[in-house]
Amino acid sequence: MSAADGSPAGYARPHIPRLHPYVPGEQPTDGNWIKLNTNELPYPCSRDVGPAIAAEVERLPLYPSPRSMPLRRALAEHHGVDPEQVIVGNGSDDILNLLTRVFCGDGGDAVMAFPGYSLYPVITAIRGEEIRRVRFGDDMRLPVDGLTAADPRILFLTTPNAPTGVGFGNDEIARLLDAVPGMAVADEAYADFAESTAADLLARYPRLVVTRTFSKSYGLAGLRVGYALAHPETIGLLDRVRDSYNVNRLSQAGALAALRDQSYFRETVARVKATRARFSAELEARGWFTYPSSANFVFTRPRDAGGREGADVAESLFRFLHEHRVLVRHFPSDSLTAPFLRVSIGTDAQMTSLLQIIDQWQTTE
Ligand SMILES: Cc1ncc(COP(=O)(O)O)c(C=O)c1O
Repeated sequence: MSAADGSPAGYARPHIPRLHPYVPGEQPTDGNWIKLNTNELPYPCSRDVGPAIAAEVERLPLYPSPRSMPLRRALAEHHGVDPEQVIVGNGSDDILNLLTRVFCGDGGDAVMAFPGYSLYPVITAIRGEEIRRVRFGDDMRLPVDGLTAADPRILFLTTPNAPTGVGFGNDEIARLLDAVPGMAVADEAYADFAESTAADLLARYPRLVVTRTFSKSYGLAGLRVGYALAHPETIGLLDRVRDSYNVNRLSQAGALAALRDQSYFRETVARVKATRARFSAELEARGWFTYPSSANFVFTRPRDAGGREGADVAESLFRFLHEHRVLVRHFPSDSLTAPFLRVSIGTDAQMTSLLQIIDQWQTTE
């Protein structure tokens, strides 16, 4: 094997140097920011997590449970499924990646409902495959006909959707699964803030994979634990391509402790939902169109003092907020998303500060 110029990239598989890495939301390390850009929980995780992790420190010379068995069993009990229907990963991103290892790479196999989570094109591209996008309409309801026509080997659906926050009921998802062949991934990173879960459809649809995370509703984004619920055969396939010790000892213990503290979990989720309702009402009072959210963020179309909307207006507010040390997310590259900003739900105090800065922006426009 040789590379024309002898450079490492010259020896790489040809598609690798052309890849665009995933661009995560800004994670500032300095000062006082109101951070509403990556949909993290604005509250601490359960108080049981720290001691559970500390108790594992003396066992760090030992490898962790390779299959994260205690956590798998607890998750199975929590969701009312068999432990053989659960796999745990280093964040749900790890699980999504494993899915591409199993189901992508022969070309043209993967389809996503767009807009959706922007990691899917990145992880399918790593397998040398360009994901096909089937676009939502402005109503953001499921584009069932387009997805059926796409005839995928694997479909990636973010539900509730990101960045819109729009939730899909199980009737709607069942209609989709009836129409669209192939594997279907319901990426439920935000389902704890919604009214239903596609996990209830698993018994009816062996092709369904539901991915979940401890990053959002459990306040454990820094710990990196996610999981999937699926048919035992799917779990068996994913286990074949998983790193042997894909979830470290501290993360397994911390996630287990958080899962066991359901009263704190319910309390924090309820707080987020209450703040979401208050913040959405404030946006409505300002006449801003906002998709109804089933997640811990809202997707809203800013309107300036002159009543103007659009990509430039969203960009102007994004910059103004940044100057005032508020981080939100703007997705300017597509006409469906460019006129909007995605705003994570923070504490009531953070949302009040944000609204004050928005009102200031409107008077300076
Ligand atoms: C839709 C969606 N899926 C998955 C993830 C990744 O979650 P995790 O932290 O479990 O890797 C995110 C994170 O932002 C997300 O928005």
